[in-house]
Amino acid sequence: MERIVSGKPKEEDILLDRTLRPRRLAEYLGQERVKDNLKIAIAAAQGRGEPLDHVLLYGPPGLGKTTLAHIIAAEMRVSIRTTSGPAVERPGDVAAILTSLKDEDVLFIDEIHRLSRAVEEVLYLAMEEFALDIVIGKGPGARSLRLNLPHFTIIGATTRFAMLSPPLRDRFGMVYRLDFYDGEAIASIIRRSARILAIEAEEVGVGEIARRARGTPRVANRLLKRVRDYAQVMAEGVITEKVALEALSRLEVDQLGLDELDHKVLRTIIEKFDGGPVGLDTIAASISEEADTIMDVYEPYLLQLGFLERTPRGRVATRHAYEHLGLPYQKGPQTTLFSL
Ligand SMILES: Nc1ncnc2c1ncn2[C@@H]1O[C@H](COP(=O)(O)OP(=O)(O)OP(=O)(O)O)[C@@H](O)[C@H]1O
Ligand SMILES: [Mg+2]
Repeated sequence: MERIVSGKPKEEDILLDRTLRPRRLAEYLGQERVKDNLKIAIAAAQGRGEPLDHVLLYGPPGLGKTTLAHIIAAEMRVSIRTTSGPAVERPGDVAAILTSLKDEDVLFIDEIHRLSRAVEEVLYLAMEEFALDIVIGKGPGARSLRLNLPHFTIIGATTRFAMLSPPLRDRFGMVYRLDFYDGEAIASIIRRSARILAIEAEEVGVGEIARRARGTPRVANRLLKRVRDYAQVMAEGVITEKVALEALSRLEVDQLGLDELDHKVLRTIIEKFDGGPVGLDTIAASISEEADTIMDVYEPYLLQLGFLERTPRGRVATRHAYEHLGLPYQKGPQTTLFSL
């Protein structure tokens, strides 16, 4: 199903992403803690004339991991090569990429949790000692040869930190989690995008879009674009409060940016499973979605809103979720029945 509020990239985002993607750290709004740490690390590496330590970026889709990787390379004034976990299939592939890099270059590996075990093994040594062990020949005559590599920086990105093997995680000197952006940061991102796209937007209009953007820049930009289209056709191009509200209500996202699918997840837990706890796979089966998709795409924001809780026995819908859906909350303190 087409979701306007999905953090995952869609076809229509490709061009938009390219136009709106910040190029330098100063244009990258929000994520202050991550930026502060990176600034120091970059200045220190540059001061020493060394490559930057390997960086791992993780967090839900659309929060700016790819953008930040490119910015890091730009700030370090080095080249960046891009690949992804599923694209590097064999150890030979990674060896070919690594040997083609120059000193201080950045290699960005998207979806790094999807690297094969064999490829990971090669990366361990490469990241730690900037070397590759190559086996020449076969059988008893085989020899191992160590090949030195340039001093590169790996930037890994993943939406699934837990799926990364611990030895690989350990090889990153810097590990940053990107969080959902707060309302003010999202509003600044919308203002910046409106400026670039030459869209006139009143502050209240910006606020309405920001509120529904799920703390996700990609969603904010997508909503802005849709509201712009509506404004152009219906209201001479200006995004006023009224225009924003009308346009957004047509997109079928609620006041908090939740769409039909989020509602379905919550309603399933509440109505079919009495509020939970219920296992992820069971929820997935009852709404015919993949468990992975629920975990990556829907759950993070519902957890952030405090609508969902993760317990050892499964997912639980909270009072806030009931209230948001306008359903009576009867859970209260559990009445215990003693059987004597
Ligand atoms: N901090 C930011 N300031 C301004 N715009 C941003 C910021 N972060 C992201 N964006 C915008 O959101 C878009 C999506 O970001 P990006 O592609 O970097 O996300 P991602 O985390 O790599 O997502 P995915 O997990 O799908 O790969 C960018 O093209 C950019 O326009
Ligand atoms: Mg990305």
